[in-house]
Amino acid sequence: MKNLHLVENPLIDRDITYLRNIETKEYQFRLALRRISYALVIDIAKSFGLKKISVKTPLEETVGHKLLHQIILVPVLRAGLSMVNSFIEMIPQAKVGHIGIRRDEKTLQPIEYYYKTPQNLDVSKVIILDPMLATGGSASAAVSFLKKRGAEDCTLATLISSPEGVAKMEADHPNVAVYTAALDRQLNENGYILPGLGDAGDRTFGTL
Ligand code: PRP
Ligand code: URA
Repeated sequence: MKNLHLVENPLIDRDITYLRNIETKEYQFRLALRRISYALVIDIAKSFGLKKISVKTPLEETVGHKLLHQIILVPVLRAGLSMVNSFIEMIPQAKVGHIGIRRDEKTLQPIEYYYKTPQNLDVSKVIILDPMLATGGSASAAVSFLKKRGAEDCTLATLISSPEGVAKMEADHPNVAVYTAALDRQLNENGYILPGLGDAGDRTFGTL
């Protein structure tokens, strides 16, 4: 799994446990998800390029830095929305696109129901946000839709991944790095991640 970056931190392990726990209330679930998203963005940002600029302190002029590339965040609706705030707080100049993809519950195939992204995808660093990488159908489709519109540099940020989903991303999009906070055991017959956390969208938005 050469594209996989497992983001490790004891605070993440604690928060993943909150997410998994069936007893966790929506507000605690959202808070844990936001905290893990901070850890992800900090790790992903290690791959960002920097441009040198000069900056005047109250005492003298010195070398400073700004991000080399425009960052475009693309949450996959719905559940990806819950990761946006943490990423935006760390990258306030980021632009945000949206892709609506849902899985057909019977075929598990991805269906695109919404698409709107900022311009200049081709020269931007695009970060796709989706807490769950299960069969990989949604994430792979999201990357394909973005590539079709010109995106060249895509990264996927997820909270929990399955080995099947990571393998699909590697097969379909070998140049896309996958950052995840947990790599789980397997999928069940309905395409849910085991042990997983259940349905991320439903648990985030209280639509169970
Ligand atoms: C969930 C999740 C991913 C997708 C992962 O969305 O947020 O987008 O499933 O599954 P996959 O890897 O097998 O494609 P879902 O379709 O439940 O939509 P929702 O976010 O609106 O609940
Ligand atoms: N989508 C989810 O929200 N959870 C899973 O386990 C699989 C797909």
